[in-house]
Amino acid sequence: EKHQSIDPFLQGRKVLVSAGPTREKIDPVRFFTNHSSGKMGFALAEAAAKYGAEVTLVSGPTALTVSNNKINRINVTSAQEMYEAMHDYFADSDIVIKAAAVADYTPKLVYDEKMKKQPGDLQIEMKRTKDILLSLGEIKSNQYLVGFAAETNNSIENGLKKLEKKHLDAIVINDISTKGAGFGGDTNIVTYVNKKQEQKDIELATKIEIAEKILRFIDRDMKDEKH
Ligand code: CTP
Ligand code: CA
Repeated sequence: EKHQSIDPFLQGRKVLVSAGPTREKIDPVRFFTNHSSGKMGFALAEAAAKYGAEVTLVSGPTALTVSNNKINRINVTSAQEMYEAMHDYFADSDIVIKAAAVADYTPKLVYDEKMKKQPGDLQIEMKRTKDILLSLGEIKSNQYLVGFAAETNNSIENGLKKLEKKHLDAIVINDISTKGAGFGGDTNIVTYVNKKQEQKDIELATKIEIAEKILRFIDRDMKDEKH
C-alpha cells in the first residue's frame, strides 16, 4: 500500500467555518432563502480537518454530508441561529471563515398559522438581520477572521470595502457572474486579499482545491504576523 504523506500544517489550530444558506421563516410552510449550496464552506471544513485542524462547521440547511467524522457539525436554520452558534464558538477559535450566505433580511412578523391567500397582491415587511461577520470583527482578539464577498460587479472594489468595514484579516472575493464561479457548482474562481491588500488570484479549480489554497494563504499570513 502506498501512503501519501500529508503535511499537517494546521495542526494545533482551531478552525470555525460557516457554510450554506439561511432560511428565514414566513409561516409554518414558507421561508426566504438563497442559492448557496454550502459546497465552498464544506470544502474548507474538510480541507482544514485533513491538514490537522480541529474543525467546527456551522451549517445552514444543505443536503451535504461531511466525510471526516472528526468535524464538529452544528446545524442551524436562520441568520439569528447562525449568529448565536458563531458567537458560541468564536472565543475558542484561531481561524474563523464565514463562507455562509446569510440572509440580509428576515420577515418582520412570523405567522404561527399558514397564511391563506387573499385577493390581490401580497407585501411582506422585512427587517435587517444582524451582520454576523461585522459583529465578530468588532470583538475579535487574536482570531484570524476571513469573510467571503459574493459580488456581480466591481467585485474587488466592493470586496475591499467589506474587508475594511468588517475588520477582517482577509476576504475571499467571489465574482458570481463569472462562468464556473459561485453558487451551486463544484468549481469556483476567487481572489484572496489580506489586510495588507496583497492580492492572490485563484484560477478556476474545484472548491476542494480552492479551499486548500485559501487555507495555505491564511496559514502564511498568520505565520508572517506571528500568530
Ligand atoms: N455576512 C454575515 N452576516 C450577515 C450578512 C453577511 O456574517 N447578516 C457575511 C457573509 O457570511 C460573508 C460576508 O458577510 O462572509 C459578506 O457577505 P455579502 O453578502 O457579500 O456582503 P454584505 O455585507 O451582506 O453586503 P451586500 O449583500 O449588501 O453586498
Ligand atoms: Ca449580503
